[in-house]
Amino acid sequence: MNVNSICCIGAGYVGGPTMAVIALKCPNIKVTVVDINEQRIAAWNHADLDQLPIYEPGLKEVVAEARGRNLFFSTDVEKAIEESQMIFMAVNTPTKTYGEGKGFAADLTFVEKCARQIAKVATSDKIVIEKSTLPVRTAEKIKEILSSNTKGVHFEVLSNPEFLAEGTAIQDLFKSDRVLVGGDDTKTGKAAVAALVSIYSNWITKEKILTTNVWSSELSKLASNAMLAQRISSINSLSAICEKSGADIEEVSRAIGMDSRIGPKFLKASVGFGGSCFQKDILNLVYLCKHFGLAEVAEYWHQVVKINDYQKNRFAKKIIKGLNGTVNQKKITLLGWAFKKDTNDSRESAAIYVADVLLEEGAELHVFDPMVKEARIHQDLTALWEARNDSKKEIESKLKRCVVHHEHSVALEYSFAAAILTEWDEFKSYNWNAIADKMMQPAKIFDGRNVIENSSRGEFNLIQTGR
Ligand code: NAD
Ligand code: UGA
Repeated sequence: MNVNSICCIGAGYVGGPTMAVIALKCPNIKVTVVDINEQRIAAWNHADLDQLPIYEPGLKEVVAEARGRNLFFSTDVEKAIEESQMIFMAVNTPTKTYGEGKGFAADLTFVEKCARQIAKVATSDKIVIEKSTLPVRTAEKIKEILSSNTKGVHFEVLSNPEFLAEGTAIQDLFKSDRVLVGGDDTKTGKAAVAALVSIYSNWITKEKILTTNVWSSELSKLASNAMLAQRISSINSLSAICEKSGADIEEVSRAIGMDSRIGPKFLKASVGFGGSCFQKDILNLVYLCKHFGLAEVAEYWHQVVKINDYQKNRFAKKIIKGLNGTVNQKKITLLGWAFKKDTNDSRESAAIYVADVLLEEGAELHVFDPMVKEARIHQDLTALWEARNDSKKEIESKLKRCVVHHEHSVALEYSFAAAILTEWDEFKSYNWNAIADKMMQPAKIFDGRNVIENSSRGEFNLIQTGR
């Protein structure tokens, strides 16, 4: 099958960058990215590339080259479905906040809506691709929904999970460790797999394109995230032992990582992992295990999330303890709000939870992040408090005690403590001695990400993770 027209439903962190790279690498394919969020589409179409809805290094250069040539952003979902031979679904799959599986299962409302819309609109054969991260066997449900089409259309459903990480999305897409395509072992299934493989083959070498059955592909995505998050929880749990024993987590990490069977990546102790996916995907895995009657397996993976909560809480408590047991009415500066460097995404960022604990204790928070805006920061906190049923009055009062700055120096002046929550490179280059001079004395820097070199330690208290 010669594919020359594809679309992607969902213009988010996955849909936008992924399709931009496909368009760049496959100039003969028309790529349309659609979304119901008009504001988001308008931002993708903005003449000023600094206004794109997502900040990713290298993204604007890719969009600049492909947009208007063979890359298009639109809100006309039905037209895009109708015109495309291949439809990627890259919509959000958050943790359910209601009903059965609440707090664990993936909410498939958006995926189902897409499938229904495709079933309703399609008048020609389509390859429908699961790009979103989904529970194993979701393709079965999608097929069932698609079968409600009454126009004799044949649908082939593939699983093609995305492994990009935010902040390095473009590089990850250019040089994927692997591309995974799951399809049915039928004549039409194989043809659909071959069609998708031929698209990726434009820039990914054959050895890196892995084809499997649909269920393996779906499960491999959840398993990859679970294994990655497990490494972080493992190293974070060890950071607590380091703090008690005098061992240094950076040294331990290096020593462990030099074993080629373990490897050095993803062993950086931190304030806990954040991001929209690790927690949601593990909770989803926990739910699936329980669904299949595997209570012990469920508990094993649940511990990864529990240790992460422990680490976030431990960090907040360390600040309180370090300030003589009270932060009430004390100015405290949070450096970093994004869940990791080089992104403006703050979903599930550890900063939200640390801020919450400190505000509950009466602190006056001053926040600086190079990319995350005030509105987003206040929205993150408001969403957390609304979900907890805090009153409007309480929310307003706490928001007043969370001031967001454009200048780190202003945020830090006269602060009792600074807490580093994101590993932004610029934090490494600050003159920490000069900063500490302008803080309340004795100045305390809680470096949750271990970004400050031990050699730059001066006349201030440096409290790092696992050291
Ligand atoms: P996102 O929230 O940034 O984007 C999803 C978009 O889908 C939103 O803009 C939303 O408006 C749109 N949408 C929802 N329903 C729609 C509908 N019916 N029609 C049209 N548009 C619709 O989410 P994301 O971060 O891009 O994640 C998408 C999926 O990819 C999730 O399943 C996630 O787990 C997975 N994933 C994310 C990442 C990541 O780095 N963010 C990486 C790999 C996989
Ligand atoms: C993660 C995976 O790395 C991607 O492969 C996957 O596609 C994606 O989730 C997804 O499914 O959404 P992402 O969450 O964007 O990507 O970023 P990571 O680099 O994995 O970082 C996640 C969190 O772990 C961040 O808060 C980061 O600071 C933290 N982390 C990471 C650590 O605390 N220590 C480490 O050693 C590595």
